[in-house]
Amino acid sequence: MAGFRTLDDIGAVSGKRVLVRVDLNVPVADGKVTDITRIERIAPTIAELSGKGAKVILLAHFGRPKDGPTAEFSLEPIAKATSEVLGRPVGFASDCVGDKAADAVGAMKDGDVLLFENTRFHKAEEKNEPSFTDKLAANGDIYVNDAFSAAHRAHASTEGLARRLPAYAGRTMQAELDALEKGLGNPVRPVVAIVGGAKVSTKIDLLMNLVKKVDALVIGGGMANTFLAARGTNVGKSLCEHDLAGTAKQIMIEAAESGCAIVLPADGVVAKEFKAGAASETVAISDVPADGMILDVGEKTVKSVNDWIDRAATLVWNGPLGAFEIEPFDRATVAAAKHAAARTKEGKLVSVAGGGDTVAALNHAGVADDFTYVSTAGGAFLEWMEGKPLPGVEVLKR
Ligand code: 3PG
Ligand code: MG
Repeated sequence: MAGFRTLDDIGAVSGKRVLVRVDLNVPVADGKVTDITRIERIAPTIAELSGKGAKVILLAHFGRPKDGPTAEFSLEPIAKATSEVLGRPVGFASDCVGDKAADAVGAMKDGDVLLFENTRFHKAEEKNEPSFTDKLAANGDIYVNDAFSAAHRAHASTEGLARRLPAYAGRTMQAELDALEKGLGNPVRPVVAIVGGAKVSTKIDLLMNLVKKVDALVIGGGMANTFLAARGTNVGKSLCEHDLAGTAKQIMIEAAESGCAIVLPADGVVAKEFKAGAASETVAISDVPADGMILDVGEKTVKSVNDWIDRAATLVWNGPLGAFEIEPFDRATVAAAKHAAARTKEGKLVSVAGGGDTVAALNHAGVADDFTYVSTAGGAFLEWMEGKPLPGVEVLKR
């Protein structure tokens, strides 16, 4: 990555205190971490720094605590989970600034790994207050950011610190930026984007940006209904934001002006109720019954999506094509995901996917490992797709 300072530029770290911002905002149920992907992703940076004799101090947030420290939002259980995943001891300090933090750092030996308590237990973190950043910086000689998924936040631990200390991108941040550059920054053409999910309203900026950058935009999921309705297609009882018809039309006009093909469903799998195993039929998109709901795209549409994937050199994917969480409405998403994975494996496609539901959908299809890159970022991935500068990334630029 020519544009960013990385661990290749960091120099000797032996004996140095390296503050590493990581994303440990992992899903937890009944006190157990249910998905360790984010923890696995930070392992290479920690191993590299520790192996070179650095004192590795991890900074992270957990949830969105409002009123200072609470057990519910403590990172202490996550320190244990991190230690298990990394297969090495990970110490814990019950505050990220002040005496408790300083004492724990003072007791570290070269190569040790320590996690500080939730940075968001201090309101000043999210306000990016300089005096708080100074307190964080007091425990470090060098700053490394390995949390792309929190880089859309201009907080003290994601942005402020990079201005205070010599700052570098960690290996996961580097891989992420590299993949995103291949996806939309400087992609091999043609570029096809698949965007799905429930609502247009949450993705207007993203769609507006994409139509200017990609050669074809496949729209699936509930949001496709808003486009279909705007075009005059009857979508029955389907999820649809009728009030956004004007926005949808505007996006289609922008696409036409930029030479971006818009690919809308040609057929749909419709049901009368939204539940697993509900009776369903596939109909042409012009024949949706008045009391029917479109819950997935049909086979004809899948064929057309797969044809676009065949034509593409680069694929960017955010959001499922149907209600993939319930069967049988996962079929189109699974089929297209498998097709993209196969093309990627054949070396014919660069495939980059991200966003919360997308990762779950690709895992459900069993192909997340076969994509070129799957981002664990939710909001940060969307903001990147919207073409917005991410504060935590901007400060790492040379
Ligand atoms: C995430 O989980 O998307 C990141 O950790 C950012 O969390 P936030 O949305 O609470 O800032
Ligand atoms: Mg989020």
